[in-house]
Amino acid sequence: MTLATRAAATEIAAFPGQPLRGTATAPGDKSISHRALILGTIAHGETAIDGLLESEDVRRTAAAMAAFGASLERRGEGRWRVIGNGAFATPSDVLDLGNSGTGARLILGAAAGYPLVASFTGDGSLRERPMLRALKPLGLMGARWLAREGGRLPLTLAGGALKGIDYALPEPSAQVKSAILLAGLNATGETWVRETTPTRDHTERMLSAFGAELEAGQDDKGHFVRLVGGQSLRGCAVAVPGDPSSAAFLVVAGLIVPGSELTVRNVLLNPTRTGLIETLLEMGAELTIGGRRDCGGEAVGDITVRHSALRGVEVPAARAPTMIDEYPILAVAAAFARGVTVMRGIGELRVKESDRIALMADGLTACGVTARAEREGLVVEGGMARGGATVHTLGDHRIAMSFLVLGLAAREAVRIDAAEMIATSFPGFAALMRDLGARIG
Ligand code: S3P
Repeated sequence: MTLATRAAATEIAAFPGQPLRGTATAPGDKSISHRALILGTIAHGETAIDGLLESEDVRRTAAAMAAFGASLERRGEGRWRVIGNGAFATPSDVLDLGNSGTGARLILGAAAGYPLVASFTGDGSLRERPMLRALKPLGLMGARWLAREGGRLPLTLAGGALKGIDYALPEPSAQVKSAILLAGLNATGETWVRETTPTRDHTERMLSAFGAELEAGQDDKGHFVRLVGGQSLRGCAVAVPGDPSSAAFLVVAGLIVPGSELTVRNVLLNPTRTGLIETLLEMGAELTIGGRRDCGGEAVGDITVRHSALRGVEVPAARAPTMIDEYPILAVAAAFARGVTVMRGIGELRVKESDRIALMADGLTACGVTARAEREGLVVEGGMARGGATVHTLGDHRIAMSFLVLGLAAREAVRIDAAEMIATSFPGFAALMRDLGARIG
């Protein structure tokens, strides 16, 4: 028998007083990186990926793709080659997807299309996250599964012999939409996914780039994506743009730390991801976008910000899908704005890597900011945050980075209880911030 051991967590702190200046490049987009590896595995032939985010979450997806039979080769930083067999094979072991909800839900969908049996697990956070939202439509298509109570991981999926469905998403989720579309590739007949508010469309765009035919549009029931089953994909070149959800930490730091002026290069500007930029501009941010260009079929640009006098705003609930991962860092910006910022229609934040509404409200309160958690909302009263606290992150990477940014602009340093999980999405975060002048360590 072995005793389970837990590695000691590394506390780190962010200290105020230094302006941030210079230029940084955003790391590769996490959503697009997962999708490139998965579609590269489903496809026939070679997929050459440039700019892949080499974070913990994406590495888990890469390992899962190897287990399903793809051959993967790392050719340099962010440069990967995937050779797909046009199908997933039964893996010989349980797949551990770590902390990654995107990996779990997308891979469930892709795997469901093939006659295989696969078992999935994840870390303590992922094992508590709702998988039923993906399993339910996959079950309607004909996949079978056996899961822990409430449809949670660990679970075993048996795929194959699927039929297309017409499914309206009960909650806005690009992960669930993508799971259904990936399953639909190998289903008979048509698969329709409907959503009231469009969520990120990277799966649709990338499926087209890999040669699939699909239609996205608007009808009397709302936004839809339609895909005819029985299509095979051809490997292709994928250039991964910079992740706006990671760039967000740098952008907000530049806005709230006095004396700062910085540029984040190569940021994805897909309109399904730009809600934070829109909101910051409404708050009075001095933010400009230059160098607009195309990167692998997606718009990118360079974002320049300087320290700004922000004001509180009410964020429209309908904007939530376009900035769902950015609410924690928006709440930090709100803590330095004049007046109150109201964020509503964000109940989905309660089922992310942590309950982000609760953790943000608790952490902000610990830092001397008046913040109120609502069932599906967060209200933050701005001013100048005191800081001077150790914040509990419950292993949530975005909570960790948000409070480090807060510490750079507060009156007193802010410490977080564990820095390891930042590598989930942004392995070089602390080093990159230090390069811009931040005192983090
Ligand atoms: C993602 C979709 C969003 C987002 C996640 C990435 C994706 O999740 O929060 O970080 O890549 O499709 P939901 O689908 O749960 O909204």
